[in-house]
Amino acid sequence: CGIVGYVGTEDAKEILLRGLEKLEYRGYDSAGIAVANDNGVHVFKEKGRIAALREVVDTSVDGTVGIGHTRWATHGEPSRKNAHPHQSTTERFTLVHNGVIENYEQLKREFLIDVELTSDTDTEVIVQLVEKFVTEGKSIEDAFRHTLSLLKGSYATALIDNEDADIVYVGKNKSPLLIGVGEGVNVIASDAMAMLQVTNQFVEIMDEELVIVTRDSITIKTLDGTVMSREPYTAELDASDIEKGTYPHFMLKEIDEQPFVIRNIIQKYQNEDGSVRLDDDIREAMKGSDRIYIIAAGTSYHAGLVGKQLIEKIAQRPVEVHIASEFLYNMPLLSENPLFIFISQSGETADLRGVLVEVKKRGHKALTVTNVPGSTLSREADFTLHTYAGPEIAVASTKAYTAQMAVFTLLAVDTAKAKGVNLDFDPLQELAIVANAMETLTDQKEQLEQVARDYLTITRNCFFIGRAVDFYVGLEGALKLKEISYIQAEGFAGGELKHGTIALIEDGTPVIALATQKHVNLSIRGNVKEVAARGANTCIISMEGMEEEDDAFVLPAVHEFLTPLVAVIPMQLISYYAALHRDCDVDKPRNLAKSVTVE
Ligand code: G6P
Repeated sequence: CGIVGYVGTEDAKEILLRGLEKLEYRGYDSAGIAVANDNGVHVFKEKGRIAALREVVDTSVDGTVGIGHTRWATHGEPSRKNAHPHQSTTERFTLVHNGVIENYEQLKREFLIDVELTSDTDTEVIVQLVEKFVTEGKSIEDAFRHTLSLLKGSYATALIDNEDADIVYVGKNKSPLLIGVGEGVNVIASDAMAMLQVTNQFVEIMDEELVIVTRDSITIKTLDGTVMSREPYTAELDASDIEKGTYPHFMLKEIDEQPFVIRNIIQKYQNEDGSVRLDDDIREAMKGSDRIYIIAAGTSYHAGLVGKQLIEKIAQRPVEVHIASEFLYNMPLLSENPLFIFISQSGETADLRGVLVEVKKRGHKALTVTNVPGSTLSREADFTLHTYAGPEIAVASTKAYTAQMAVFTLLAVDTAKAKGVNLDFDPLQELAIVANAMETLTDQKEQLEQVARDYLTITRNCFFIGRAVDFYVGLEGALKLKEISYIQAEGFAGGELKHGTIALIEDGTPVIALATQKHVNLSIRGNVKEVAARGANTCIISMEGMEEEDDAFVLPAVHEFLTPLVAVIPMQLISYYAALHRDCDVDKPRNLAKSVTVE
């Protein structure tokens, strides 16, 4: 979910709605705003996208204070009733919330037994508790603070009081939250992008802090009442980066940006003499660790699998890769000097943060590889490596993934050098070759659209197979396809499909095989024959130098360590066209959110 707030002099509605549109990537199953004026607080909410909310907002209601929310449902189905803002019984208090209140059932039983709740959400208890404590005699600020101190879980929340609507009360724990400051105007946002329309000056809010926001002031306090002072920073975001331009979809724009992203990374991490430049601190941490633990989710997890290969092959350091949401339950026995690497496009994924908090508590060092340097995971880790991909808006990740792998290549090389490992590999030069290969591929959209037509027009499922590092690209290919086209897709190690899943192969079932690795070329082609013999519609994507006559598509040759960076591009484009032909919402697939800030 994402929240916004505005206290200023202009009409809040439009600013809130535009802000929410920028936050839609965080969830889009329902949305709402509340606008305050002399006649009270007016709430508008609707199931569906911000576009649907726009339809129900009464344009005649003006107000210079307001809050808004776009939702990714956790407690309670997506519906108008469960959409935020939520109000207290007397409608005096109105509130939006991003996060999950874990103890809401208990709070209900303990404090709100007589209150009739009108939604199925965990959020409503917050606003009802504030009203209860105010009714019992507490000031609003005290009631809000007391309520926050009772909450277990995560929240970025904003509250307005009908009786004094020139103030917005804000609280934060674990969920991201920024206050934007301007002249006679202050704003609230889960992500700076939402409020760049008002200001580029933002103040970070820390966990267990509350903020009292008026037009002319922001007062930050800890939950025990200590006043904090903090300077704003300038959000280095270019508003044009977050527009589609002439592209029909952000996803297509972001796929096309990949060669530029790789070149950008080369430039950012290059010394004048052409060698790799990383922070000394990161080099020391890598050098000093005896084992690296990569923690990630979704597409970033797939980048982590490739990252492991890169570090092990190039720097010869042992690496484990773990899914963030499982790590704390199935924690491996840690080595003596572990280094944790968190890979996260957004830097906000709650599953990762849970692990980061735990490993920091145990005194281990952490490095975050992220596209958003000011993000929570970046701030809380010891070191950050920036992936420089520029804002990624489409929910399905493309350029952030290739950028992560490029940065891992540099990290691996830097570590190898620090460790004195002999290298016959110039990463910057090889990445430059990758960037050119990517450009060749993004110019071949018609051929890839044809592949999507040939294999994916009428099918309910699709399998991706590969061996060695191609297996990992297959996992990512399958994730891309299922995320946006809803075709059931799975990636398998070439040898594994026959141990069960081959039972699903029917006449015409598409099987996409990746063949970019010479040492497994014959074996993967053998696997293709096995499934073809059972009726599969096979599609081989190979690489120059290894191609055979019937291959559906041939990739330009790149260094064998870096094939995932180019092999994934046809996967992205095939998925894109498959989704397009099926009339799916490419940039905002159903049920998903780009940044999942709940565990
Ligand atoms: C969500 C997105 C995925 C993404 C994952 C991890 O589930 O839908 O596309 O890969 O989160 O996100 P992160 O920002 O941590 O890389």
